[in-house]
Amino acid sequence: MKQKILLLGATGSIGQSTQNCVRRYPDEFELVGISYYSNEERAQDCVKSFDTIKHVAKTAESIVDMVKTADYDVLVNAIVGCAGFEPTVTALMRGKKVALANKESLVVGGELIDEIIAKHGGSIVPIDSEHSAILQCIYGENRKDVESITITASGGPFRELAASEFANITPERALKHPTWSMGAKITIDSATLMNKGFEVIEAHHLYKIEYDRINVVVHPQSIIHSSVTFIDGAVIAQCGLPDMELPIQYALTFPERKYMIPTPRLDWAKAKQLTFFEPDYDKFPCLRMCYDAGNAGGTLPCVLNAANEVAVAKFLCGEIKFVQIYQMIRRALDYYRRENLESVEQILALDRRIRSEMIDWR
Ligand SMILES: NC(=O)c1ccc[n+]([C@@H]2O[C@H](COP(=O)([O-])OP(=O)(O)OC[C@H]3O[C@@H](n4cnc5c(N)ncnc54)[C@H](OP(=O)(O)O)[C@@H]3O)[C@@H](O)[C@H]2O)c1
Repeated sequence: MKQKILLLGATGSIGQSTQNCVRRYPDEFELVGISYYSNEERAQDCVKSFDTIKHVAKTAESIVDMVKTADYDVLVNAIVGCAGFEPTVTALMRGKKVALANKESLVVGGELIDEIIAKHGGSIVPIDSEHSAILQCIYGENRKDVESITITASGGPFRELAASEFANITPERALKHPTWSMGAKITIDSATLMNKGFEVIEAHHLYKIEYDRINVVVHPQSIIHSSVTFIDGAVIAQCGLPDMELPIQYALTFPERKYMIPTPRLDWAKAKQLTFFEPDYDKFPCLRMCYDAGNAGGTLPCVLNAANEVAVAKFLCGEIKFVQIYQMIRRALDYYRRENLESVEQILALDRRIRSEMIDWR
């Protein structure tokens, strides 16, 4: 039986790679529907190249409606930002499997998502390479034997840049990621290390592990995608050349593996040098903010995410400087009071409120 796939964010970087995965195994996967936001040309190309597509959605309302009513087995959520949250919970409420690239879903509403999965029986398989790595390390192991996990970070393009130079960082420079080719927003999040902080929150919810047992280490070569330390001291790491098609395919076939053509394989002799560093929490304050907001829980991670989305958009269009990204987020975290998380509607309303109130912030 073919696995019917509904792909959200089909026109983006992960969306395009997911299409490649579906093309690679036409007898296994069937693309039944897609969503997009602004890229009409790519959306048309996708519809032309898959005659199995029955649903196309564009607006937030029609995307949620499609996720609620379409016939599919797995939702691949590759929308960027909080816009991906409602589709994720809608699929989980139907008890569906969600192959999740949209880490913001777990950042803004991880606590609620845990409850929804417990009640409706859906599941999340991560697409993020770090979380896929952790899954590959713990699969078949006893979860109670996990002592800690270590998420690797490339460190982004400004790892070696002096903090005094940060004021001069332009969007063009920040958009040049050293090892991964990704959408604009996640590329900026990687430059500020916000992306890594989001991944810490994501790991906390996916693997039910306390924040003080989640470590981050900078590993510029992006060969080790993350590792797990077990209670007997053993460390299992998942490694490979940086290529998102592996974690996407793994999320679709989990717990099985399928032949991957024609990607180059990791050759240890050519890898030459693997280096590791402590993250610099002073130079990259977003990482610490994520640990703090994650630990505080409730609505604070939603505040963190909304403020980040606003600030990154402002940086990308030249309204604020790079250093103002985390200054604005800090201000938002101080301004918006923490509340307990009670509903999906509460998160959506808070996200809307913060976006409109922060419009004039600098
Ligand atoms: N790229 C990676 O390597 C990577 C790795 C791990 C995790 N992720 C995560 O995967 C997600 C997607 O990343 P990406 O790099 O693929 O981003 P991207 O290239 O910017 O693609 C984003 C997708 O979301 C759609 N979109 C944008 N705003 C939307 C909205 N308001 N409502 C509905 N759809 C909207 C876009 O549509 P249009 O293009 O039509 O405007 C596009 O299809 C993010 O959460 C990111 O953190 C990405």
